[in-house]
Amino acid sequence: MDFLLDSFDTVDLIVVAIIGAVGIYFFFKYRSDSTVQTQHNIVPLQKEAGSKSDKSYVNRMKNEDRQVLILFGSQTGTAEELAGRLAKDLVRYGKKALVMDPEEVDPEDFERIIEIKNPLLILCVATYGEGDPTDNAQQIYEHLQNNDCDFSGLRFAVFGLGNKTYEHYNAVGKFFDQRLEELGAERVFEIGLGDDDANLEEDFMRWREAFLPALAQSFGWEISNDGGLERQYRLEIIEEPTANIFTGEYGRIGAYERQRP
Ligand SMILES: Cc1cc2nc3c(=O)[nH]c(=O)nc-3n(C[C@H](O)[C@H](O)[C@H](O)COP(=O)(O)O)c2cc1C
Repeated sequence: MDFLLDSFDTVDLIVVAIIGAVGIYFFFKYRSDSTVQTQHNIVPLQKEAGSKSDKSYVNRMKNEDRQVLILFGSQTGTAEELAGRLAKDLVRYGKKALVMDPEEVDPEDFERIIEIKNPLLILCVATYGEGDPTDNAQQIYEHLQNNDCDFSGLRFAVFGLGNKTYEHYNAVGKFFDQRLEELGAERVFEIGLGDDDANLEEDFMRWREAFLPALAQSFGWEISNDGGLERQYRLEIIEEPTANIFTGEYGRIGAYERQRP
């Protein structure tokens, strides 16, 4: 012990004492913290009765005063993009659509769309494989196949995405179109068939041009003054552009990459 004390000078002893004191402080601090933590009672959140239906798209549509549901069956994004564009089109009529991935819709809840006042369902659905639905549309496809739901009071329209080189051309769009009618829904406009082998964009544009006025007529909608038609840009004449001018379609997915020459 004397040997140890001899080899330390006073400063060393003070340093050792401080380190010791700090160590003891933190030892007791963490011990008391962990004791406090273990005193918490972890109570699992109780699911309130009806909470599942509260989260339903139906309640959302009711609360947000939406009358239009647009579902997209898409694997590589084209149908999703078209669904978004249709939703934007409806803003012109002062209508807010709810665009949803059908995977997010509980199939049991699907039928509840008729609880909405004057409901409209638009489907943009692609076909894959042997005339199969996309993964995200699978469960709703099977639900309609296997259940005799009642869709009376629902109006609907379908735009199918496919490719004529496949044997089951647009089979999924055709299925939904026919099945919804069988189940009592009213077709507001004939099915649109987009052919990816030719020009799907043109097929869509042609269908949409005829579809929107037919839709407006069916529901008695009119172009709304406050429906998103107000300019959100200003016109500025640039004599000698110094930067590259964007020549794509405003607000369209991928438009920046695919600008017109
Ligand atoms: C592997 C594969 C399988 C396809 N099978 C079919 C088919 O059976 N029938 C059809 O009409 N189109 C078929 N298509 C074409 C797609 O439906 C079409 O490209 C569509 O635009 C894809 O839409 P999405 O980008 O929303 O997934 C197929 C495409 C791929 C890549």
